[in-house]
Amino acid sequence: MCGIIGYVGHRPAVPVVMEGLGRLEYRGYDSAGIAWIWQGALNIARASGKLSALESKLATMPAIMATCAMGHTRWATHGEPCERNAHPHQSNDAKIAIIHNGIIENYQSIKNSLQQKGYIFKSDTDTEVLVNLIAEKRKTEPDMLHAFAAALNEARGAYALCVMSLDEPDVIYAARASAPLILGIGTGENFIASDIPAFLPYTRNVIFIEDGEIARVKASDFEIYALDGLQTVEHAEQTVQWDIQAAQKDGYRHFMLKEIFEQPRVISDGLTGRADACSGTVSMPELDNMPVPEKLHIVACGTSYHSGLWARHLLEGIAEIPVQVDIASEFRYREKLLASPGENAIFISQSGETADTLAALRLAKKHGLPVMGLCNVVGSSIAREADMTVFTQAGPEISVASTKAMASQMLALALMAIYWGRRKNTITSAQCKELVSSLFSLPRLLDDNLPQMREKARELVQKYATFHNFFYIGRGFCYPLALEGALKLKELSYIHAEGYAAGEMKHGPIALIDPSFPTFAIALENELFPKVKSNIVEAEARAGKVIVLTNPGMEVKADDIWVIPGVKSPLAGLVVLPALQLFSYEMADYLGKDVDQPRNLAKSVTVE
Ligand code: G6P
Repeated sequence: MCGIIGYVGHRPAVPVVMEGLGRLEYRGYDSAGIAWIWQGALNIARASGKLSALESKLATMPAIMATCAMGHTRWATHGEPCERNAHPHQSNDAKIAIIHNGIIENYQSIKNSLQQKGYIFKSDTDTEVLVNLIAEKRKTEPDMLHAFAAALNEARGAYALCVMSLDEPDVIYAARASAPLILGIGTGENFIASDIPAFLPYTRNVIFIEDGEIARVKASDFEIYALDGLQTVEHAEQTVQWDIQAAQKDGYRHFMLKEIFEQPRVISDGLTGRADACSGTVSMPELDNMPVPEKLHIVACGTSYHSGLWARHLLEGIAEIPVQVDIASEFRYREKLLASPGENAIFISQSGETADTLAALRLAKKHGLPVMGLCNVVGSSIAREADMTVFTQAGPEISVASTKAMASQMLALALMAIYWGRRKNTITSAQCKELVSSLFSLPRLLDDNLPQMREKARELVQKYATFHNFFYIGRGFCYPLALEGALKLKELSYIHAEGYAAGEMKHGPIALIDPSFPTFAIALENELFPKVKSNIVEAEARAGKVIVLTNPGMEVKADDIWVIPGVKSPLAGLVVLPALQLFSYEMADYLGKDVDQPRNLAKSVTVE
């Protein structure tokens, strides 16, 4: 959580940093701030609320000509979201400023000892403690580099940090421990940020800073040091393929809508190079050197967890690999990880930075499980720490609510199931061909149907926007989709929604059904249709309103029927998914909610 960006170069730094913050706002948006050094003074501007509040504040100031600045957009951890707690924070002597993403776990004991030395704290944050610790160290250390390192050697926790000091007005120091930090290398200018889109208009050449490293960044060059010993470290420069177009709205009202409509492209990109339409085969060279897993653990959070739950049906059904799916925040505290040889674990994470998923991966590694990442962000922590990673190629996802990333994860997992199914011979080449052909039919089918789906979602939303509760139900592979539908409605429109296995309704939840509590039922054309149909009838018998998402020709009665094209199960999930996303999107927009940045959420959850 929280986005940080620092810039040193030849341009006016404040507008560059503000623009970068705009592309990091998905990481947190309860307050924002910026620091720059000009004419020998350290200047800080901060504002509570979204970045626009900070923009308005800066607009009242004379043009700022500084060429070195750093900015922060916050998702509160320590201290309520308000200007006093917004970053940057500065040292008592007003010589050093800091921005921070993460948590300093031992801040209280450091604060106590600094208070005894006379330091005064104006905020409730752990970050203000750290900047004063650096100032304290600077009194005895020969320079900022050594003072910064000495302070970090006392701090425990997770952080990505940038620090500026009057000592060296054209330098930004940065450091990382379990939170993302990327150096963007330009010509006569350099950037340091939490995520690549922050500086994408200026450079695609990057270095991923590692845990336990400090970067000293100037306009013309940079050095990277190991925190332990301060010897210099060399990293190869990498070039990322994302372009800035992909990180902009392209005329769509919201990033979320754009990203929903990008799903056909995401699916065709994900198929490119991995599946062959003519021969009907799947190749996953990344997996060629590993044995087919005898059992899989899938671990993830939020929407990524739902793709794992969905994929279990394919991995078990197609490749006959037993699968256990866990929520990362639970898995990471498992007392005993009972894993046997032949088992593998897949960690699914769009960002590759989710703290719980990363901790779960480390636990699995500690227990000797071979670990795979399924990530969207190349160079992310999970991608780098996993034994091997499959990349989902969804491109940058900006909307906080995940949409196209889930489709890309589902596709990659479906391809894995088919690939392993062929290697194990649990499916024939004809079955493989049929599955591949279904996958290839999806982009066109979605392109053709998404506009109508959006229209239907709009129509339904006008009818259902006054309800305060929803059930989402489904069976089999539609149950994880019901969970995802409910999650999307909750996070975007703040309407209470529960995803349930349709067969579980009778064990308690059905007691809640009355005319004010509608049910969104996913009842596709498959062998479970009659069962879900019975559950729909049960809800209606309690005077509950029902929306049914179904396929052409299915006989079902309900208040509202939403027909989407049929696709071979469980790949039909890739058609159900955008319908659920569009319903929640339209609901949130109709209710006037902030679609791309829902309250209290952040896209990349780098705290526990
Ligand atoms: C946050 C986001 C969700 C996302 C989850 C896991 O909660 O708001 O949209 O599904 O994190 O993120 P990951 O990057 O690990 O997939």
